[in-house]
Amino acid sequence: MISGGVAILDFGSQYNQLIARRIREMGVYCELIPGNASLSEILRINPAAIILSGGPSSVYDENSPQPDPGVFQLELPMLGICYGMQLLALHENGKVEGGHVREYGPAELYHEQNIDIFRGVGTGLQAWMSHGDRVVKVPDGYSHIASTESLPIAAMADVTRKRYGVQFHPEVNHTEFGEKLLRNFIFGICGISPKWNMKTFRKNSIEKIRNKLTGGGNVILGLSGGVDSSVVAALLHEAVPDRFTPIFVDNGLLRMGEKESVVETFRDHFRMPLKVIDGADEFLTALSGVTDPEKKRKIIGRVFIELFEKAASEIENVTHLAQGTLYPDVIESVSFRGPSATIKSHHNVGGLPERMNLKLLEPLRELFKDEVRDLGRELGLPENMVSRHPFPGPGLAVRILGAIIPEDLDILRKADRIFIDYLLENDLYNEIWQAFAVLLPVRTVGVMGDERTYDRVIALRAVTSTDAMTADWYRMPPEHLARISSSIVNNVNGVSRIVYDISSKPPGTIEWE
Ligand code: XMP
Repeated sequence: MISGGVAILDFGSQYNQLIARRIREMGVYCELIPGNASLSEILRINPAAIILSGGPSSVYDENSPQPDPGVFQLELPMLGICYGMQLLALHENGKVEGGHVREYGPAELYHEQNIDIFRGVGTGLQAWMSHGDRVVKVPDGYSHIASTESLPIAAMADVTRKRYGVQFHPEVNHTEFGEKLLRNFIFGICGISPKWNMKTFRKNSIEKIRNKLTGGGNVILGLSGGVDSSVVAALLHEAVPDRFTPIFVDNGLLRMGEKESVVETFRDHFRMPLKVIDGADEFLTALSGVTDPEKKRKIIGRVFIELFEKAASEIENVTHLAQGTLYPDVIESVSFRGPSATIKSHHNVGGLPERMNLKLLEPLRELFKDEVRDLGRELGLPENMVSRHPFPGPGLAVRILGAIIPEDLDILRKADRIFIDYLLENDLYNEIWQAFAVLLPVRTVGVMGDERTYDRVIALRAVTSTDAMTADWYRMPPEHLARISSSIVNNVNGVSRIVYDISSKPPGTIEWE
């Protein structure tokens, strides 16, 4: 068995992260590398196989991304997907034709039964297509192994040299047996052994952290209690327990019990020298009377940096700042497409390492979110911390619409707690990407007992998503909504009405501000 990883050359298809996730899920290490990277950059990961990804270009476009020609000289198994198949065909002297109507969506695929890549894959399957150009002549040495009604050459193979091209996308769920096909390639054809798991990652990563810190300095981390920073904290504590200090800034905008749970986990359970900064007064004073959401974010970012820097200056000989950057953020910024336009203005504390003149430690740079959760479990973090919904840096400040006063924070905390506890107790929490309550700046008329009330409105938001870039509202069964609604109105003074948000993103956003 071969133990190397898989280099996925990224030519810009929207599905490329999925290829990487599918392969990682099989326990095999892979990296997305910009499609036009140099050969030495590709060889850096010691690949046992190359995947040429899909992409939106035509191979005949003047500026279409092209791999280093040395790639095709490598004696490694290769799989070209969509644009990647066309590149493979072209470089091996086959023929690709442009000018066809773009085919997008499912097609019925018929394939040769006794080809290794289709082992165990039924014919007549639904395959997901998304292409304009097509291969019209396979290169010498290749055979034509699949077709659809409108596409004669939908897959090709040179079995002796282990080179394959598929015009459809095996990585998307809409392609039946897509995962089986990828498994056939990775295990059956390349003979790679599945060695990538969070147990080995933990061991290797701790070694890497120690090697980076041979200089002897200390490391700090802004611990928020979210999944990413919590996992970084657990990892660093294991790697360099005497040289690591997590700093938790309580900005007064946290949910009920949040600070207590961070203190309990990290200080009491893990015995980390957690530094807790009580910044509620500073934040609330600076936010006083501010209603504009972007202004709120800027103020919170600024005060955070001030307090964090002050706390850090009390620790001796700090040389490194650890951060919970994940692989999707890295891909976003190194892809040959350049940083995508979707980068949010949310990175409230960007620029911190430069300002503080610290070196960055980003031990989760190679991981997808679900891998980070697994690593957290491996490191012994409690399940409720590992499977937590995301929570924005500015906290409840963007969930109280308008100016923030302590009384409103109190109302929102109580309502949010009832909502989230209900979801947890009824096994709904893990079906939802993110759920929370929002306090609206309006009053509405109601009756309670014999009295007329004029009280506040709470909006409940629950969304499904895979990456927060798009989201849909969660179809919460009405009987649950009814129980949550009466529980909030009966238990939280000052609230008389509950509404449920049924907007998707786009055009809405997940947060209300
Ligand atoms: P939106 O509201 O843009 O949110 O659909 C997408 C995801 O980002 C979170 N979010 C933030 N996270 N600082 C953060 O750290 C912010 O200012 C911020 N605003 C939104 C939001 O909770 C969702 O998960």
